[in-house]
Amino acid sequence: MVELRNISKVFGSFTALQEVSFEIAEGEFMTFLGPSGCGKTTCLRLISGFDTPTTGQVLIGGKDVTFDPPYRRDVNQVFQSYALFPHLSIYENIAFGLRMKKIAAAAIKTKVDRVIEMTALGQFIDRKPSQLSGGQRQRVALARAIVCEPKVLLLDEPLSALDAKLRTQMRIELKQLQKRLGITFIFVTHDQEEALTMSDRVAVLSAGRVEQIGTVNEIYYQPATRFVATFIGETNIVEATVLSRGNGLLRCRLEGGLELDVKDSPQATPDNVLLSLRPERLRLSRASFEGRNVFPGRIAVEIFKGAVDDLTVIVQGGLELGACLTNDGQQEFDFHEGEEVFCRIQPEDISIVSA
Ligand SMILES: Nc1ncnc2c1ncn2[C@@H]1O[C@H](COP(=O)(O)OP(=O)(O)OP(=O)(O)O)[C@@H](O)[C@H]1O
Ligand SMILES: [Mg+2]
Repeated sequence: MVELRNISKVFGSFTALQEVSFEIAEGEFMTFLGPSGCGKTTCLRLISGFDTPTTGQVLIGGKDVTFDPPYRRDVNQVFQSYALFPHLSIYENIAFGLRMKKIAAAAIKTKVDRVIEMTALGQFIDRKPSQLSGGQRQRVALARAIVCEPKVLLLDEPLSALDAKLRTQMRIELKQLQKRLGITFIFVTHDQEEALTMSDRVAVLSAGRVEQIGTVNEIYYQPATRFVATFIGETNIVEATVLSRGNGLLRCRLEGGLELDVKDSPQATPDNVLLSLRPERLRLSRASFEGRNVFPGRIAVEIFKGAVDDLTVIVQGGLELGACLTNDGQQEFDFHEGEEVFCRIQPEDISIVSA
């Protein structure tokens, strides 16, 4: 549905996007995730047609639209600022795009009513935008974009102005809406949790480049680079030396001397590797474990966070590993600082990342 081919965007002497290529399928929920200034909005502007690339091509539905103006593309954008018309009622704000398209009045009413119901805005249709809360305005901005039934909907940090509770609720509503309508969504956020909960696939951007594109599971459990591993969720990044290779395992010596088996991966270079160990995959116990990768440690820090407990464990050679235990009443809990414990991590829960 949307394809970027080798896109670069240069502003003066500054390269905002560098050789970005990807394809987004029809009906897919794709998220651009990355820190401030990495090029997310620039990418959206090239797709919507508010800007043109320095080099490369933009295709929508297989057609080259690189130099087509926004109104010639079957794309709609929800702006972070909502950009509602202050003097128009909520109803007229939503109907605006259809009126511009000179659609028959009866058809407009049917479409607008349906979208109003979908976004639960029925009681507000006669108000002006200034008489709504931030979350309600957000829904109007969405309704206004959806009512035109674009093939592609671009959403630039559309939830960033909402409070935590509304934000969580809107995530679910948006995702359900997208499924129901079958529209291709391109969603921009710098919030990794938002990206993980909503997306089919995520493109992680850093400094104008795509670091990795994959399903949420791939991005989380098989991060390609150190940047991806640390940007998405918490992780332990540890340098290691490969001692031997065989039976699908790499025997690695970590900084400090601890030796662990790591699931082999074709991208592992023979000598030095960078490992990512997710804190929630590190198991702790007062009694020793059976199996591979069992090693002693001492609890250095323990922070109670309600549903989970964040711990720092010092292992061989002074290496510090973060662990996250779920307070589920099942596993051993209530470790205290200074306590000696046994740790275990499965070889497949350690991923090899590139620098
Ligand atoms: N018109 C412009 N002229 C010069 N530099 C620009 C222009 N537009 C964007 N940039 C630069 O390009 C880079 C990418 O900007 P962009 O707006 O795409 O970032 P972003 O990922 O959306 O960030 P944020 O999360 O803060 O919105 C930034 O460093 C920005 O300063
Ligand atoms: Mg932006």
